[in-house]
Amino acid sequence: MCGIIGYVGARPCKELVLSGLEHLEYRGYDSAGLVLVEPGHLHRARALGPVKHLREAAAGISSTATLGMGHTRWATHGGVEERNTHPFVSADGRFAVLMNGIFENYVELRAEVAERGHVLTSDTDTEALVHLLAEAYEGDLADTVRRIYPRLEGHFAFLVVCTDEPDRIVGARLAWPPLVVGRGAGETFLASFTPAFLSETRAIQLVAEGEIVIATADDVEFRRVADWSLQEHPIEQADESLEVAAKGGYESFMLKEIHEQPTAIDDTIAERFHNGRLQLDGIGLTDEELRSINRVLVVGCGTALHSGLVGRYLIEEWAQIATEADVASEWRYRNGVFDPKTLVLAISQSGETADTLAAMQIARQRGARVIAITNIMGSAVARAADGALYTRAGLEIGVAATKTFTAQVTLMTLLALHLGAVRGTIAPAEVARIGDELRLLPGLVQQILDDTSLDAQLDVIADRFAHDRFFLFLGRHLGLPICQEGALKLKEISYIPTDAYAAGEMKHGPIALLGEDTPVVAVATDSHVFEKIASNLEEVRARGAHVIAVATEGNTVIHHHAEHVLFIPRTRPELQPVLAVVPLQILAYKIAVRLGLDVDRPRNLAKTVTVE
Ligand code: G6P
Repeated sequence: MCGIIGYVGARPCKELVLSGLEHLEYRGYDSAGLVLVEPGHLHRARALGPVKHLREAAAGISSTATLGMGHTRWATHGGVEERNTHPFVSADGRFAVLMNGIFENYVELRAEVAERGHVLTSDTDTEALVHLLAEAYEGDLADTVRRIYPRLEGHFAFLVVCTDEPDRIVGARLAWPPLVVGRGAGETFLASFTPAFLSETRAIQLVAEGEIVIATADDVEFRRVADWSLQEHPIEQADESLEVAAKGGYESFMLKEIHEQPTAIDDTIAERFHNGRLQLDGIGLTDEELRSINRVLVVGCGTALHSGLVGRYLIEEWAQIATEADVASEWRYRNGVFDPKTLVLAISQSGETADTLAAMQIARQRGARVIAITNIMGSAVARAADGALYTRAGLEIGVAATKTFTAQVTLMTLLALHLGAVRGTIAPAEVARIGDELRLLPGLVQQILDDTSLDAQLDVIADRFAHDRFFLFLGRHLGLPICQEGALKLKEISYIPTDAYAAGEMKHGPIALLGEDTPVVAVATDSHVFEKIASNLEEVRARGAHVIAVATEGNTVIHHHAEHVLFIPRTRPELQPVLAVVPLQILAYKIAVRLGLDVDRPRNLAKTVTVE
């Protein structure tokens, strides 16, 4: 998390840095800052909150500096205060630093520089670096970073500048935080992620782990810290789908992205079905290897894990392989047992999540095969896996994931089918039939989005329950991960406490929470567990709580079990998750809007989580 951007070139760069930060804001928006570097001096501006506040704070700086860098922060070490906002500047005003990541030995580093007389102005881990730089500098910034680098433990990508060398930015990477270089004509960008400069150039180079990068307007040098050898990195063309589109008339990115789901699902399926047969290019394992798999482990965090939980049911159903799913941050510290017949599916929208990456690395070290499922081409998870399968959702800006979730569920569905087809546990004719129904999903999601009476009903529900203090979500089987996702959406953007529970487990605890003011959301679509969940809803109603059910159109009995019914179109039960989540996304959205909250930037959250 945290977004960083640097520019060196011929143009006055204040606006380039600010607009780059706006594109990186999804990585954190606790506070933001920038420096503009001129020969012999630099200007700094910092502000709490989103980048627009920094824009105001920097309005008075009329510098035409052609070298600058900026940072948007998700607080780790040190509270959300201006003094903890990057960039940090040395006491003599010659050096500035900013970082995405963590110095794990920061206590030691801070104590060390304080002992030598430096006055620490923040509570951060990053500030120690600027003092180390100022002390060690002997006229060559890159060489100074090279000498300091071995002292720094943790995981980071940082940028540093010095007013004595106003023609260059020096960057460094350790472990997973990303750093990408954009090569323009007579100008160079450095950033956490390509969209920060995509409107200026598409030509990119990736800084590798363990490297220092020295960027000037016309040249970029990559050097391996270990032996200072020059490294060559090909110039690649950035994926066009990363271009940040405007809100396009929608009041928020989240709403726009909810409405982009038909396209995201369609694009995720499109290229992969040929004449009823599935082809998953990039999977990285031969059919022979897929046939030998006897166990699947799905790992991910947040929404990505929820799509993995849907995948677990489908893989067991169609491919008949024992499958478990776990939170990456928990799984990585378990003593997992693996062999080459274990397949790990690592799901990460951003492709950067630290815990998911660590889980993958451990799994590979222990002999498992790993397939990454991600929305970002060439991302860290894609590079760390045996194979990579891409969702085609386009860039998602809203911090609460929506279109990437339905695209992930779609891709997990395709993968489960593919495993079944390759292993012969599902007949080719059945694969083709399911494929035909899958292709109808984009249209069915569109039908939900176009359903004005459903929308009006969601308004009524949002009006009625927006001020309640707790929501319980209940589901069974494939409905359970959808409840978990619905509960996550609601809590993250409305700040209303929610819980999602297996409906059958409710009587072992959550039932104690039910009263006459409790809304209970249930996914009760038609399936082999419908009667079971209907009974659970009776138990809920007997306690006076209010049931809101997502049900399959044509279901005539659901009205006996729920006060509010949100009907969605019929498809086969295995494909219902993609449809059932949509009203829950919209409900969360409508409630957050009624509470006057910023749905695209919920408090304390970040879209990309590069710390453990
Ligand atoms: C954060 C985001 C979530 C996301 C999760 C995992 O918590 O706010 O939307 O589901 O990270 O991210 P990933 O990029 O690995 O899917």
